[in-house]
Amino acid sequence: MASNLKDGVGNASWTVADIPFDEIDHSLIVDNSELFYLITAASFIEITSDLYTRNLIDYYHGNPEIEHWLENYWEREELQHGAALKLYVETVWPDFQWEKAYHDFVDEYSTTCQMENLAANRSLEMVARCVIETGTASFYRTLSEASPEPVLKLITTNISNDEVRHYKHFYRYFLEYRDRERPSRFSVLKQLWQRGTCVKSEDAYIAYKHVFLERSKGEAFTIEGYDKFRASFRRIGRTAFPYEMAVKMILKPLDLSVPVGRVVQPAVETTARFLFSI
Ligand SMILES: [Fe+2]
Ligand SMILES: [Fe+2]
Repeated sequence: MASNLKDGVGNASWTVADIPFDEIDHSLIVDNSELFYLITAASFIEITSDLYTRNLIDYYHGNPEIEHWLENYWEREELQHGAALKLYVETVWPDFQWEKAYHDFVDEYSTTCQMENLAANRSLEMVARCVIETGTASFYRTLSEASPEPVLKLITTNISNDEVRHYKHFYRYFLEYRDRERPSRFSVLKQLWQRGTCVKSEDAYIAYKHVFLERSKGEAFTIEGYDKFRASFRRIGRTAFPYEMAVKMILKPLDLSVPVGRVVQPAVETTARFLFSI
């Protein structure tokens, strides 16, 4: 990754080399342990994107446009997210052994989550991807809103914009397959719900655990500690979570008429709050 830092990655409008890491205001971030955990856990998950991309590319075998985009744009951009977050963590918290903790994370993660359960057909898998990108776009938008430090704000804004762009791609591919496969609105709703409820649960848990074990050497990892971590994101999200954006993105594949959309909006909003607070 390091040798490519100056090259453009995928369709992203930024590169890791554009980020002014030397301008980080350490005093604004170094004692913020909530953001430390969130950013570091996110860096683990993003940088591991290539571990689970293969299944997805294989699933769309025979559609060269999608295969090409996933491999040459989407995956590379996700890896760039990980590279930027990793560099931020290493710059602000140099005592944290990122490589060691990441190694332990991959050891555990690769035994549990290597094979993702793909949806029953290609249109529904695109719905699932829309849910995941909605989750990540909202997560990084929350961090960018909440960040007290300008360089972190810049990185998370860039990443959030990329995730919205990924969503748009997946949504366009969804429409393509929807026309061919004609999934029922109920099956789309079911897919939105199923993917929504498991989004980020297992990977966030394992990532947090290994960040914690490295940071708090000797202390035992407990589920209560993880619950506190989740609560910290919910607390940040109370004022910074982009509910309106998340709701719009999540409703789109349902293609509801405007009046119906308005009726279900509060229910979806409540669901979004639940789903996208890790
Ligand atoms: Fe990402
Ligand atoms: Fe993404």
